[in-house]
Amino acid sequence: MDKTFHVITFGCQMNVGDSDWLARALVLRGWRQAPEAEAWLFVVNTCSVRDKPEQKVYSELGRLAAYQRGKPGLTVAVGGCVAQQIGRGFFERFPFVRLVFGSDGIAAAPDALERLAADPKERIALLDFLAAYPEREDVLTQLAPALAPAPAFDADLGEPESGPSAQRGQAFVNIMQGCDNFCAYCIVPHTRGRQKSRLPQAVLAECRQRVEQGAREITLLGQNVNSYGLDNGDVGVGFADLLRQVAAIPGLLRLRFTTSHPKDIDPEVIRAFGELPNLCPALHLPLQAGSDAVLKRMGRKYDRARYLDTVAALRAARPGIALTTDLIVGFPGETEEDFLQTLEMMERVRFESSFSFRYSDRPGVAAVRMTPKIDEAVSQARLLRLQSLQNDITKETLKSREGAEAIVLLEAKSRKQDQGPTFWRGRDEGGRVVNLRLGEAESVERDFAGQLVRARILAAKNHSLVGEKVGQPW
Ligand code: SAH
Ligand code: SF4
Ligand code: F3S
Repeated sequence: MDKTFHVITFGCQMNVGDSDWLARALVLRGWRQAPEAEAWLFVVNTCSVRDKPEQKVYSELGRLAAYQRGKPGLTVAVGGCVAQQIGRGFFERFPFVRLVFGSDGIAAAPDALERLAADPKERIALLDFLAAYPEREDVLTQLAPALAPAPAFDADLGEPESGPSAQRGQAFVNIMQGCDNFCAYCIVPHTRGRQKSRLPQAVLAECRQRVEQGAREITLLGQNVNSYGLDNGDVGVGFADLLRQVAAIPGLLRLRFTTSHPKDIDPEVIRAFGELPNLCPALHLPLQAGSDAVLKRMGRKYDRARYLDTVAALRAARPGIALTTDLIVGFPGETEEDFLQTLEMMERVRFESSFSFRYSDRPGVAAVRMTPKIDEAVSQARLLRLQSLQNDITKETLKSREGAEAIVLLEAKSRKQDQGPTFWRGRDEGGRVVNLRLGEAESVERDFAGQLVRARILAAKNHSLVGEKVGQPW
């Protein structure tokens, strides 16, 4: 067989980061990343947070089963949260699945895939949880050219850049793995194991390396970054300290982090929003529900009053900070009155945007046994009401940006056909999507990904802003 592979990723940013690492580790071993039609190995990195993404994994494997009939020998590796949950069960259901690996097992996956390539009869399961953060092999140093720094933005100088443009200028760096919170609805602690903080030296070394390779923006990642350093393997610093150390890296223009649990956000972290100029004025702070009774049953360990105090402190520290959230409707026992309290919290906080979900029963979580379950039609109707309110608030908050100036980190050419070829999509400091018209003089072909430009916001759309370039910030 030839060592060609194709990666399919579902789920959160951590899965995206894991897939990226695995792809690089395979390339370092002489494998070639290939389109589906040419690949011998498919890696499917999976998500189990709700029933729908889990079902997507089975339909994807069903599709690959049909595809495999015309391509004997095709091999599939299943990773991520569904792999951890179902484990060797995949071997029984899908004969072409020859590797399953969880979030701690991934470090050993590249070598395991080498073994599978050498021995067509072997099957491997990497499902054990480890006691400490499993530091992975360095894949950045040797593959640095793929992440060449973007040149300063200048329309009149230099040649168009070549190479992969997606996400250049941005990097995501893991600071921990797992979660200890066991919120009553959530499968993550079961699929990603106990919280394990990564050593600060390793976090800092990777951040420095990313900046040297061209990243202008870093997002620190973990399921609950605010409890960084609070697990058993004491790493010597807390999240606020880590944030300050990363922010001090020369050349790092933007710093973000996600996800924060409201119960753990430290006053020091709130203060950092007022003190660190490169810490972006944006925070994703999942509220989940607006009723104290529901929050209690969810095991979230904060109430409305405490959440509102945190919001007030954040806004005092950094006026204009963009707050976004996650919300669940139809949690077992949620009454109409409870739901109205969620709407009321949305009105009070005025989140710029939110991810909202209907509660979905997950195997093994505490809420499975909670009753009464909410009728699907009822929770669907609540979801629509919530989303309609959010759309109104989003529109108003975006509208208030009209006329303002923003610094936009360009990500990719705008997908919107009607906007013409000189439109690029990026994000402002608050994380809002901005479609930016570059000057007509700029080449249509030129690659601007990873560059920062100063822009004026011209208009607000439903979920994004439209702006025009007014200059270079740096
Ligand atoms: N660690 C993060 C994200 C966890 S998963 C956090 O604590 O915020 C992302 C989101 O999925 C959650 O915030 C929650 O809103 C949603 N979610 C998790 N389990 C769910 C379930 N069983 N049903 C519906 N939504 C769920
Ligand atoms: Fe899930 Fe709660 Fe942990 Fe987030 S904090 S991953 S919602 S258990
Ligand atoms: Fe999904 Fe696992 Fe991430 S359940 S959201 S891939 S932690």
